[in-house]
Amino acid sequence: MAARVVPVDPFDLVVFGATGDLARRKLIPALYHRMADGQMPDGARIIGTARSEMDAEGFRALASEALDTFVPAENLDADIRRRFLGCLDYLKLDVSTPEGWTNLRGKLGTDDRPCAHYLSVAPRFFGMIAEGISKAGLVDANTRIVVEKPLGRDLASARALNAQLAEGFEESQVYRIDHYLGKETVQNLMALRFANTLFEPLWNAQHVDHVQITVAESVGIAGRGPYYDNVGAMRDMVQNHLLQLLCLTAMEPPARFEPDAVRDEKLKVLRALEPLIDPADVVRGQYRANGETKSYREEAENDSSMTESFVALKAKVSNWRWAGVPFYLRTGKRLRNRVSEIAIQFRDVPHSIFPGAGATPHPNVLAIRLQPDEGITLSMTVKDPGPGGMRLADTKLDMSFAERLAATGMRMPDAYERLVMDVIRGDQTLFMRGDEVEAAWAWIDPIIAAWQSAPAPKLYDAGSSGPEDALMLLHRDGRRWREIET
Ligand code: NDP
Ligand code: BG6
Repeated sequence: MAARVVPVDPFDLVVFGATGDLARRKLIPALYHRMADGQMPDGARIIGTARSEMDAEGFRALASEALDTFVPAENLDADIRRRFLGCLDYLKLDVSTPEGWTNLRGKLGTDDRPCAHYLSVAPRFFGMIAEGISKAGLVDANTRIVVEKPLGRDLASARALNAQLAEGFEESQVYRIDHYLGKETVQNLMALRFANTLFEPLWNAQHVDHVQITVAESVGIAGRGPYYDNVGAMRDMVQNHLLQLLCLTAMEPPARFEPDAVRDEKLKVLRALEPLIDPADVVRGQYRANGETKSYREEAENDSSMTESFVALKAKVSNWRWAGVPFYLRTGKRLRNRVSEIAIQFRDVPHSIFPGAGATPHPNVLAIRLQPDEGITLSMTVKDPGPGGMRLADTKLDMSFAERLAATGMRMPDAYERLVMDVIRGDQTLFMRGDEVEAAWAWIDPIIAAWQSAPAPKLYDAGSSGPEDALMLLHRDGRRWREIET
């Protein structure tokens, strides 16, 4: 069964850095899938640009190879491939020079269709491209610009980037991608909270004991060493993906599912984050070799690296809804399994009426599983079946989106499919506003600054659950992390 989709109107999409990893691995496959699902019109024009010397045919060959590599064979169809490749064009353009921008103008239509410029290039080019597009007279009310992380490396650079973008574009034309917001289950978190009445009365400090947000990866940093070593887990994951998940979990219901209504509420959460002053509330770690697996330093090719590949921290949202409820965040590379989830742990029953061994109720936990096995579980305490007294047991109400989709013959769409089409439709709801990015950095900056005088990251075995100190972060509060299990 095909997904229910609303086709978009014809558009122009200029992909800067079209020969790069992101374009080949994510953007080209995402656009192909949208065409396969009937959402992308034949009249769409996708213009790849980079410095590499090639013509439109060469770019089509590159894109075709990307489809073979990154789209499962069962999703490839010869006719759709032909139509998709027919939408592609290419322009050789070195964005660091003033030449060539007028050629881009020649590639674009003269009609008033939406035109999105996707900056799939290193951040040092963002300002040059924004200026190039602007100076070439290519900005009108239908123009959009899309930027990818890293959106700065601290508050000052994020502000500078926002100011650069603002020179040529209105905020309503700027699409800052955090691909976690495009994930199906992340959108489902909003549906769960705001399309059901069940949880809202419980979604507060009176009923929630604490929240755990985990983004655990089993991969290391091989192949990205120089980039990652200069960034670390706090900037790479916490500043954006984990804080966005925290915002969606903690925010007040927006009045409408509209860009600024949603983003205003997220911003309030970021601004309500208490400064993280106690060094004991943050643990940073770095993986060491384990058996065949190399250490972080070996993979980064930096013997003395102090960069963290793991962060766990305790955040507090100081407002009426969440006062006193810790939000424990953790993320890391080379952990036991690849698991991302948000777990809301409710409070213990105020008084247990069941006597005897095996009769202690466990707190309910609502777990929103982002990946793998996308879905939602609610752990409950029930009576252990059969005679023999009132023994209690844990069980789970389990709703697997992955299974539901598979049963209807649909595939789980990649986040980029949703996000690219939202850019074309002009819907900024799932994109970060400039002030949100700045507020996130404003909270992160002092934490990173404090590390200058802090001891080295705690080592953890590759393939483990992270450093011992991360376990202690919860133990000292009388709590424990959920297992990183698939
Ligand atoms: P790559 O290094 O793989 O690709 C960079 C692209 O930029 C290439 O197409 C390159 O082509 C082009 N380029 C380089 N210099 C110039 C220039 N002077 N003028 C025009 N084009 C140029 O990078 P990625 O694709 O991995 O990343 C792109 C951006 O996306 C980065 O900001 C990255 O941080 C971000 N990102 C990437 C992710 C990923 O999964 N890869 C995930 C999240 C964000 P050529 O050499 O032919 O000019
Ligand atoms: C990226 C980070 O933004 O997200 C990577 O730069 C990380 O380090 C990736 O591996 C994780 O994304 P996902 O979708 O695989 O969870």
